[in-house]
Amino acid sequence: MTYNGRSNCGYLTLADVGREVQVAGWVDALRDHGEVIFIHLRDRSGIVQVVFSPEFAPPRICECAASLRNEFCVAATGRVMERAKTTINPSLETGQIEIIAEDLIILSQSETLPFPISEKAMVGGAGAREAGSVAEDLRLQYRYLDLRRPSMQNYLSKRHRIYKRVRDFLDQQSFIEIETPMLTKSTPEGARDYLVPSRIHQRRFYALPQSPQLFKQLLMISGFERYYQIVRCFRDEDLRPNRQPEFTQLDIESSFIDEEFIYELVEELTVRMFEVGGISLSRPFPRMTYQEAMDTTGSDRPDLRFGLRIVEATDIFRDTTYGIFKQVLLRGGCIRGIAIKGHSENLSKNVLQNEYAKEIVPGFGAKGMTWMRVLDTRLESNIVQFFHKDEQRAIIERFGAENGDVIMMIADASRAVVISALGQLRLHVAGRLGLIPVNEYRPVWITDFPLFQTTEEGITSSHHPFTAPDRIDFDPTDREALFKLRSRAYDLVVNGEELGGGSIRINDRNLQHKIFKALGLSDSEVEEKFGFFLRALDYGAPPHGGIALGMDRIVSMILNTSSIREVIAFPKNRSAFCPLTQAPSPVAHKQLAELGLLNLGGEKQLAGTEEHRDLTDVLSFVSRIALNDKERPAVAAALKEAARLAGLVKERAGKEDPIFSVLRLANRTRQNATGKPSPLAEKGELFKNAPAMKGHFFKVASILE
Ligand code: AMO
Repeated sequence: MTYNGRSNCGYLTLADVGREVQVAGWVDALRDHGEVIFIHLRDRSGIVQVVFSPEFAPPRICECAASLRNEFCVAATGRVMERAKTTINPSLETGQIEIIAEDLIILSQSETLPFPISEKAMVGGAGAREAGSVAEDLRLQYRYLDLRRPSMQNYLSKRHRIYKRVRDFLDQQSFIEIETPMLTKSTPEGARDYLVPSRIHQRRFYALPQSPQLFKQLLMISGFERYYQIVRCFRDEDLRPNRQPEFTQLDIESSFIDEEFIYELVEELTVRMFEVGGISLSRPFPRMTYQEAMDTTGSDRPDLRFGLRIVEATDIFRDTTYGIFKQVLLRGGCIRGIAIKGHSENLSKNVLQNEYAKEIVPGFGAKGMTWMRVLDTRLESNIVQFFHKDEQRAIIERFGAENGDVIMMIADASRAVVISALGQLRLHVAGRLGLIPVNEYRPVWITDFPLFQTTEEGITSSHHPFTAPDRIDFDPTDREALFKLRSRAYDLVVNGEELGGGSIRINDRNLQHKIFKALGLSDSEVEEKFGFFLRALDYGAPPHGGIALGMDRIVSMILNTSSIREVIAFPKNRSAFCPLTQAPSPVAHKQLAELGLLNLGGEKQLAGTEEHRDLTDVLSFVSRIALNDKERPAVAAALKEAARLAGLVKERAGKEDPIFSVLRLANRTRQNATGKPSPLAEKGELFKNAPAMKGHFFKVASILE
C-alpha cells in the first residue's frame, strides 16, 4: 500500500466535496448504527468522520468496519460529501463534511486502552473530554498514548513553533547555535549534580551540566561573539511544580555588550515567543530593583498583575503602648502590612481572626497577624482600642484606607520573616478574593541583586560565581562589605514566575579569584574545580554577558497549561521518576563492577553493592512488599532461618530423603476449613474472566500480579 496521495484528515473542507480521498490514522471514536458505522479518524492534522454504509461499501468492508475498536490504526478511501445541515458537528474543524468510505484496511490493532484518548464528541454539542480525571502517573506510563490526544499534540507543535521563532530571530541577529558537552565537569548553579561514572577512568565521574555556563563563556573567549543553544540541563534539586530534573534552557551569551543589549534582545525575543500563543506583550518591560521587589511584594519574583503592595508602618508605632508591637520594636524589628481595597465584606472578623491570624499566617512563618477594617471612616478590630487616636489616623493615612478596606499587618523582630510572610499572604489573599486577572501578562526585569547571600555553611553566590559585581574594589575577607555588594545580574519574571536569569560576567582573572576567595574556596579547590576556566581568562577574555531562559516554563505559560510536564514529551513525575521506563532503576551487579563502583574502599561502601548486599532489601524488592522498620527484623530472622535450613538440606543431601514440606499445609485465614483444589483450576478455568490472554498467560489487573 502506498500513501503518496494521502489527505490529512483535519484539512479536508467543503472545497474537497466530491473528491476521492485516501486518509490514514487512528480510530478516535466510533458509533455503530446497526447497518451504518461512523468513525472519527484522527491524524496529526485533526479529525474527520468516515462513514461505512452497505450502500457504498462492499459487505467485506462493512464487516471489517464493524470489527474496528478505539485506536486501531487504519487507512480508508472514499468520497468527500457535504453533511446534511442537521448532522453538522460544530466541535470538529471538518464538521461540515464526511467521507463516505469504499475501502478500509486495518494497519494495526490496539489493545483496550488504559484511559480514553478521544477528546471530541461524535455528536455536536456533546462537549469535549479532558484528561484531567486520569491519574498523571498512568498518563506518563502510557505517554505514547497520552501524546496522541489532540491537546497534547497541539502543545508540542506549538513548542516547536516557539523554538522555530527563537531560532529564526537569533539567526537574524547573527547568533549561532553551538552545542556544548553533556558529559562534563560540575558547574555551580546551586543544585546537586547528576553524576555519570566512567568505565575507562575507573572511580572518576562526569557531571551532567546544570547549565552550559562555563562553556558559553569559553566560546566568548574563543571569539564567537554571539552564541545560543537550546539545551538540556540537569539538576538534582528539590522538586516543585515548575521544576524538572532535566529541563531545557535557551542559553545565550554575547561579547562586547552591556545589560541594555540583553534587555533589548530578550524583550524582543519574549514578545515574539508569546505571539505564538496569541499574547501581545508591550515593551519596554518595566524594571525593579531586588530591594524594591522585596519591599513592595515580599518576593524577588513579584506577581504584578494585582496591587496589594506592602506598606512600611514601623515608624507609626514608635511610641506605641500596644504590647506586641512594643516588644517587636524593642528587639529592633519592623511592622508592615497590606491594604485590601473594598473587601471587608468578604473578609469577616471570623476569617481574619480565626483563619488568617491563627492558621494561615503562622503557616507562612510569622507568629501572627494584626487586622483592622475601616467602617464609617474608623478602624475596627479586636485590638483597635489599644492604639492611640493619632496612631489610628496615621494607619488610615499610610495605607490610603477607605470604608470597606481591610488592613493586615505583620510585626516581627526579623525583617526577613515580615517580608516573606507578607509576600505569601499577598498571594494568598489575591488568590482567595479572585484579584489575579487571568489572561494578563506582566513581565518585569529584577535587577541589582545582592552578589552574595548567607547560607547555613556561610556565604554563597546569589546567582553563580561568574557574575560581575557592581564594584571591584572590595576586600574579599570583609564579610560585612561583601553582603553590601550588588551584582550585575538580572532575572526576567512574568506573573510571579522566574522565566530567565543571567548577568554580565567577570572577564578578569584577578577579580574572579577574589570572588572565589570571598566564597571561602582555597587555592587548591579553585584549581581543582575551575583551573581550566581561570587559565582561559588569561588569554584576552572579552567583556561579555548573557542569560538563560527556562523554555519549559515559558512554553507552559504561553499555552496556559497546569504544569510544565504538560509541554514536555516525556517528563519525570513529581518524584523525579519516569513511570514509562521505570527510570531510575537498579542496575546489574556486573555493570557496577565494570564501572568500578564496588569496593570503593573506606568505610562508606555503596548501598546495594556486594559488600552491602542486604537480602531483606532484595526480598522486599523482588516481592514488591515494602517493609517498615518494625517488620525488617522478623523478615531478616526468617531469612536467616531459611539459610540455616538450606544449609541443612545441603549437608544432608544424599544421606536422607529430601524434605518436601517443613510445615503441614494449613489454611490460616479460615482456620477450620479443609483445603481442596478449586475445580476451576483443574478445568483450567481459573481467571476465566480475565480481560485478556497472552500465550498461556492471563492478563489480570496489576493488583493481582
Ligand atoms: P538559572 O539557574 O537562573 O541560570 O536558570 C535559568 C532558567 O532556567 C529555568 N530553570 C528550570 N526550569 C525547569 N526546571 C528546573 N529545575 C529549572 N531550573 C532552572 C528557570 C531559570 O530562570 N547559567 C545561568 C544563566 C546565565 O547566567 O546565563 C543559569 O542557568 O526559568
